[in-house]
Amino acid sequence: MAILPILQFEEQILETVERNPVAVIIGETGSGKSTQLSQMLHKRGYTKSGMIAVTQPRRVAAVSVSRRVAQELGVRLGEEVGYAIRFEDRTSERTRIKYLTDGVLLRESLSNPELNQYSVIILDEAHERSLNTDILLGLMKRLIKMRASNLKVLITSATLDGEKVSRFFSDCPILNVPGKLFPVEILHSAESPKSYLESSLKTAIDIHVQEPEGDILIFMTGQDDIEKLVSKLEERVQRLEEGSCMDAIILPLHGSLPPELQVRVFAPPPPNCRRFIVATNIAETSLTVDGVVYVIDSGYVKQRQYNPSTGMYSLDVVQISKVQANQRAGRAGRTRPGKCYRLYPSMVYNDNFLDATVPEIQRSSLAGSVLYLKSLDLPDIDILKFNFLDPPSSETLEDALKQLYLIDAIDENGSITSVGRTMAELPLEPSLSRTLMEANENGCLSQALTVAAMLSAETTLLPGRSKSTEKKRKHAPDLPDGSGWGDHIQLLQIFEHWDQTDYDVDWCKDNSLQVRGMLFVKDVRKQLSQIMQKIAKGPLDVRTKERWKESRQDYMNLRKALCVGYANQLAERMIRHNGYRTIGFKSQLVQVHPSSVLRTDEEGMLPNYVVYHELIVTSRPYMRYVCAVEMPWVRPILQKLEKLNINKLSGGSSQSEESFDGESSNLPKRVVDVVGPTADPGSMIQAARERFLARKANR
Ligand code: CDP
Ligand code: MG
Repeated sequence: MAILPILQFEEQILETVERNPVAVIIGETGSGKSTQLSQMLHKRGYTKSGMIAVTQPRRVAAVSVSRRVAQELGVRLGEEVGYAIRFEDRTSERTRIKYLTDGVLLRESLSNPELNQYSVIILDEAHERSLNTDILLGLMKRLIKMRASNLKVLITSATLDGEKVSRFFSDCPILNVPGKLFPVEILHSAESPKSYLESSLKTAIDIHVQEPEGDILIFMTGQDDIEKLVSKLEERVQRLEEGSCMDAIILPLHGSLPPELQVRVFAPPPPNCRRFIVATNIAETSLTVDGVVYVIDSGYVKQRQYNPSTGMYSLDVVQISKVQANQRAGRAGRTRPGKCYRLYPSMVYNDNFLDATVPEIQRSSLAGSVLYLKSLDLPDIDILKFNFLDPPSSETLEDALKQLYLIDAIDENGSITSVGRTMAELPLEPSLSRTLMEANENGCLSQALTVAAMLSAETTLLPGRSKSTEKKRKHAPDLPDGSGWGDHIQLLQIFEHWDQTDYDVDWCKDNSLQVRGMLFVKDVRKQLSQIMQKIAKGPLDVRTKERWKESRQDYMNLRKALCVGYANQLAERMIRHNGYRTIGFKSQLVQVHPSSVLRTDEEGMLPNYVVYHELIVTSRPYMRYVCAVEMPWVRPILQKLEKLNINKLSGGSSQSEESFDGESSNLPKRVVDVVGPTADPGSMIQAARERFLARKANR
């Protein structure tokens, strides 16, 4: 294999690191940032005084890159080189190079704010602008002052926002590693396709039949579409006349793929065989697959967005940004000149695509992050003034404060409570940590642990999220039905039934539950219960040996605990409508998701009050994972809501923060067009954000 570009700059990189506490390294995807930087620093002795941490925004990248580095160094994964992702730690005392998700590093800094175990921290893939990496950037700024003598921080990025990061770190040096990209011919479709799936299929087959050898990378938006395209491709390839073209292997690549299937894309293909890699945008920058010569870009990506005024999430298929489109195209030119087939006209690219992607911090709920920052107890940190590379809207911050107040994590003055401190130590979203704590008080911790574990593994539990699997979940003959109380109770019952079978794998298969997912739940449950044993003072009610029994009393206690944890996720039935009204947010009409097992009473009435795990807008706003709760439990929440004073919660500093408060109005914002490579990246993101908001408002 050709020598990786970054290795040619080894001396220069090491010298820069030697002389500076922080440096930014920019290099094309595939230039060796993730796999080589840590090894260089290790060789140079940086691991003598501590470990090297390399953060990744994506779990699969942490796993796959660490595996690769272990291989290159000829060591067993988990020994000198290891990884840590939520609920899975494969490191040991011997570990010197540790790949970890940015979320895990944040969590580690709770128990060790100075992160003394590390001599080097590499924030990798900073261009992804994940929420946790953005927060880490702010924290690193403090940390390098505190540990000026013995900490090196490196920030790596594949795109050109280095200037901005450098300014953020008082003009730290930027090293550009020129990539050896071969020219990529870009071919735009004449018009936008009716079905991007069909169009991808046709384009891929055309390439296979007409073009010389080289792998094809196809960007799809999600697992469902990937699976569909893979099976269609298989069918089409089989139908091709034998000997008319070379052999083909079709490989999916996405985050929920079992690890043993993920690694297949890194294995060299057999000779005279073309690979079709059908991937999510995981292959855009986090993972580099060698051998790609043709890229098919649909121009879409699936993005989760949070609306703080309604508390709703939407999982939208949105257009990618220009930066992303160019990244995707670049994947075709790594080993030789390539071609990128864009399934959209060049006019769409020029006129409709945002210049840069809106950072996650500006489209997420921040309750967990704010709780985390509060629990760090940094004397000089006021949440609303925390130093963010791109600040979130004050509306989002206020939404987070409100939720934290309603679940008792902060008091009416915005100070963190002892409940909040304990919550921050649990690797769960605030609603679930609060539920666990309440359950511990009212004698149903065992059940709450199960529910929290089931919800944490939800994506891998059921095979896909398609309508048909949702139906299966509801109607599988042997699966319990939540006794009418809703989905949380059903999740509990499913696990308990499985426990009754002594964790029989066949039972899962018979009920179309994903075995790997269920085993993961069992493990997560154990880990959560261990954490609870450590952090909760007083005796714990974790029944481990004893068989679980179905018990109405347990269900009631659990529902009560859920009502406390989900205080900010409460809905009231509307008399006239077949639906609910959300409480606490700008009131919205929502429906119970069709997959729910929540039942009506003898008169056909749904419960008056429910709490929900999330609000998600698909064809319409739905509550997913719903649990019936009782009026007496709801009353204290309503009272608290009445007393709520957001100004006090945020420390009364609302006046001075108006500067980035513009988006609370629903009017489309002024549209600023910033074009061209010399544009200031800050204003590019600002412009992208404004256009994004205007587009949302226009829907
Ligand atoms: O981080 P960056 O995108 O700069 O590159 P990298 O991930 O360090 O990848 C450098 C090289 O290692 C590429 O040629 C990858 O294909 C290869 N690699 C691999 O074969 N297996 C992995 N799990 C990760 C990287
Ligand atoms: Mg990388």
